[in-house]
Amino acid sequence: MNKLYFDIAATTPLDSNVSMLMTEIQNTIFGNPSSIHQFGQKSRSLIEKARRQISKSLNCKPNEIIFTSGGSESNNLVLHGFLKEGDHLITSSYEHPAIMKVAQELEKNNVEVTYINPRQDGIINPTDVEQAIKKNTKLISIMYVNNELGCINPLSEIVAIAQKKNIKVHTDAVQLIGKKELNLSVINVDFMSIAAHKYYGPKGVGALFIKSGNSLNSTLQGGGQEKNLRPGTENVAGISGMGLATQIAIKNIKKNSDVILKLENLFLDLLNKHQIIHQVNGKNRLPGIINITFPILGQTLVMKLDLEGIAVSFGSACSSGTPKASKVLLDLGLTDDKALKTIRISIGKFHTEDDIYSLVKVLNQILNPENQKVNYNYVK
Ligand SMILES: Cc1ncc(COP(=O)(O)O)c(C=O)c1O
Repeated sequence: MNKLYFDIAATTPLDSNVSMLMTEIQNTIFGNPSSIHQFGQKSRSLIEKARRQISKSLNCKPNEIIFTSGGSESNNLVLHGFLKEGDHLITSSYEHPAIMKVAQELEKNNVEVTYINPRQDGIINPTDVEQAIKKNTKLISIMYVNNELGCINPLSEIVAIAQKKNIKVHTDAVQLIGKKELNLSVINVDFMSIAAHKYYGPKGVGALFIKSGNSLNSTLQGGGQEKNLRPGTENVAGISGMGLATQIAIKNIKKNSDVILKLENLFLDLLNKHQIIHQVNGKNRLPGIINITFPILGQTLVMKLDLEGIAVSFGSACSSGTPKASKVLLDLGLTDDKALKTIRISIGKFHTEDDIYSLVKVLNQILNPENQKVNYNYVK
């Protein structure tokens, strides 16, 4: 069987058009974008083209986009660059470590932090955010889509609450781009983090949207690139790749998400047909991110699938060989036992129905070995 990659939420393969563009740039364009000669200016023009492509795709101004090395750096930049001693931050208890660990670090520097737990359906309740607001609340940072569950948070409602009190809003939208429509002039956040490798662009390139009128303190000092916020000679091929990847991703959202939803429904139907016991966790999910509990330890299942050439992920930290139940799942109210039996399967634009049939066939062999003969007809 061909190898099958169902870990799209961790990272995506590179789109072939993006790969071709980047290769051409790597091979032919090398000037330093800060140099005033023609070699440098050619590189500069590629960076500015990518900035325009991204801003047009997300409906913001080009000068509101700062290139970074990815989602983690964008998140760090906002929190470290915006908050100071005595400020209060509201965030959620299930953010990516690139928010969570920064918030914990800021607490050591006397920034007050409130962590909002998701409800049992995996969604942050805007009322809980509102109730956490204090006099010194300066920033609300709530992820748009949770990376383990795929749950989409009601960001517009959170922004409306924040605006009434003149509080700025940041969102980590790393999992959302290319999977759901996003119009920055409608959603009205002040800051937003994105990363190209989650939507078929290159790894190590991301961006931070900073709405006009907002500013951040520099956290790195150097040559002054990217409005002093991200000094260092730019990754021209990567940035160009991100520009094209964003354009392709946004243009094809409807087509891709329809296909992915169909594949997800096929997957869940086949699980039922095979009587494979399972539980999907979280509501209001983005199509293609399936957090699912089976009656087997997640880590064992991930390894058994890997032996068959199928990649999925186990969303929990593993320390000294002992898997720990995912905090995200425990926050949702799952028992330790169920959390340890949960994996994440993520589907992307390159998958086919045959891939889904193959995945279920292997899951059936692992989970229902005694039913192989009875159920075999269901599987192509
Ligand atoms: C929600 C979320 N935020 C941030 C990141 C970090 O992005 P990067 O790997 O580009 O630094 C990830 C990647 O896993 C993510 O899923």
